[in-house]
Amino acid sequence: MLCSCLFAQTTPNLSIFDPVSPPAESIRDLGVLLLVITGVIFVIVEGILLYSVYRFRCGPPSTVGEPPQVYGSNPIEIAWTAAPALIVFVMTLVITRTLWEVNVDPQSPPKDSKPLRVTVIGHQWWWEYVYESHGGQERGFITANELHVPASDFSKPSKRRPVYLKLLSADVCHSFWVPRLAGKTDLIPGRTNDMWFETGQTGLFLGQCAEFCGTQHAKMLLRVNVDSPDDFDHWLEEQKKPAVDDPAVSEGKKTFLSKSCINCHRVRGTSANGSYAPDLTHLMSRQTLASGIVSNTRDNLRRWIADPQKVKPGCLMPAFGLSNRELDLIVDYLVTLH
Ligand code: CUA
Repeated sequence: MLCSCLFAQTTPNLSIFDPVSPPAESIRDLGVLLLVITGVIFVIVEGILLYSVYRFRCGPPSTVGEPPQVYGSNPIEIAWTAAPALIVFVMTLVITRTLWEVNVDPQSPPKDSKPLRVTVIGHQWWWEYVYESHGGQERGFITANELHVPASDFSKPSKRRPVYLKLLSADVCHSFWVPRLAGKTDLIPGRTNDMWFETGQTGLFLGQCAEFCGTQHAKMLLRVNVDSPDDFDHWLEEQKKPAVDDPAVSEGKKTFLSKSCINCHRVRGTSANGSYAPDLTHLMSRQTLASGIVSNTRDNLRRWIADPQKVKPGCLMPAFGLSNRELDLIVDYLVTLH
């Protein structure tokens, strides 16, 4: 168990063939079935082709001439029309069943379960998570880039914790894809999409924006932490709190609040109330910066603020030309935001 946890933490496993949640399992089963069917068709067609190439290859001159001409054969024509039609019909039925399984109605979670509802907003090039409710209780805090969800225990309905995501976009089309948890679902401007997953396996699950959304599409990474129910409840309690206000870094806080940082970023409990960029209230509770591309260390944070364009070229945060002293003060303040 410990071994599998460590494994999940260190190896980026993005295989659709290793699902840990019902929608991803349905998609894996469908994928395997379609691979088998199309594999058999491939082998038959290629086999007949290769046989024909060999059997009817060019012979000695005496055999050259017009081959026997055959016109029409009802049994053969019926067979090669009916067989593909039947195969397509069976595939349609199986695909329809899978669509049904992965699209559960978010309004009706399993009876007695404790659903988590999060609104996901895709931005160029990061993820915003609005925690709406957990087990019917309103939450309403916002975080960015690293999603935390509870693990489910399928043995008892009351211990099940399905996760329902409402997907929106702030700018262009994105796509939420964590292959081991669920299939891709697009985030489309002006439209609301839904998806769900539920897993009994704790650990870190990685994913990637799966719809081209501009220069940094490739670095719009997804991290989903599936926590044990206790860890998750603890995380939730911490996230609900306003930002830490450490008097030791009051000068840093003042510098931060006097700069244009606050036009885009929010730190709950201060005058920084921007909603255009990631919420920084509990910045240091996150493992990474810039949507999963670098680890969240003091050095990386400083490098990022000094010139985000060097870390993630094209990103929408400009370099503000801060002095070294201002940079140090702001970083001193930000690293206290646990
Ligand atoms: Cu967002 Cu690609």
